[in-house]
Amino acid sequence: MNPFSLLGKTILVTGASSGIGAQCAIDCSKMGAKVILLARNKERLQQTLSLCEGEGHKYYCVDLTDFKTLPEKVQNVIAECGPLSGILHCAGISNTMPLKITTAELMDTFFKANVIGAMMLTKECCKVKRFVKEGGSIVFFSSVMGCVGESAKSLYSMTKGALISASRSLACEFAAKKIRVNCVSPGVVQTPINMNQPYMQDPELRVQFEAKHLLGFGETTDISNACIYLLSDASRWVTGQNLIIDGGFTVR
Ligand SMILES: NC(=O)c1ccc[n+]([C@@H]2O[C@H](COP(=O)([O-])OP(=O)(O)OC[C@H]3O[C@@H](n4cnc5c(N)ncnc54)[C@H](OP(=O)(O)O)[C@@H]3O)[C@@H](O)[C@H]2O)c1
Repeated sequence: MNPFSLLGKTILVTGASSGIGAQCAIDCSKMGAKVILLARNKERLQQTLSLCEGEGHKYYCVDLTDFKTLPEKVQNVIAECGPLSGILHCAGISNTMPLKITTAELMDTFFKANVIGAMMLTKECCKVKRFVKEGGSIVFFSSVMGCVGESAKSLYSMTKGALISASRSLACEFAAKKIRVNCVSPGVVQTPINMNQPYMQDPELRVQFEAKHLLGFGETTDISNACIYLLSDASRWVTGQNLIIDGGFTVR
């Protein structure tokens, strides 16, 4: 008996061309899932695909902020791969920027990439017969920055906080379809998304920032393991929650 098994499940993983999303796709395949990989970069998607275990996995180059073509692309993906058992929406962008130099255009870009993309993808995937009749699990990627504050993080924080709020209401909306909706909120995991952040560039800042994580910076598998739980039947009674995985960052 393995309540965490993903055998027989088809899981759509966005952001699968890099970092946490790539790790999640690989680890879901190792747990028995058929994975559908989504992102824009073809070469990196192919690289992730080559590391997946088992058969039947596919990748699709999709810009999740192209809202005009997204409905048709989702329709085609599900027509080719069959109905979904889960969505792991890892795709996202980040920055560190004080409000005084943040523009309305940049806010628009961040909301499109981090929030509206998530909602439009969910909307398309939850149309009739696009999830298996047993229902399933949707996991959004928020961040500790959606839960606590940090100087110059307001732009990123507001988009990640929005996902936590949206997931609670979507959990109510989709409960009748037996589709659970949760968030994960990682602390710092070293991936391309934060390699240019000030705390990664300056060795002194990096030591200070890592010390805020009581257990040090995380690894991509720390997050993929939590996602496997939320996608599996082990979490069948969990919905509308935000699972913080941060090595103790938010404890104090
Ligand atoms: N790493 C951390 O410390 C950390 C902490 C907290 C939360 N998170 C969250 O975890 C998630 C994964 O982050 P990561 O660290 O794995 O970052 P990453 O390595 O930079 O990966 C980001 C992924 O998002 C995809 N993406 C971005 N914009 C897209 C778009 N318009 N359409 C389709 N795909 C798009 C990228 O693919 P393409 O460029 O190929 O399109 C890439 O695969 C993000 O939501 C991030 O906010 C990360």
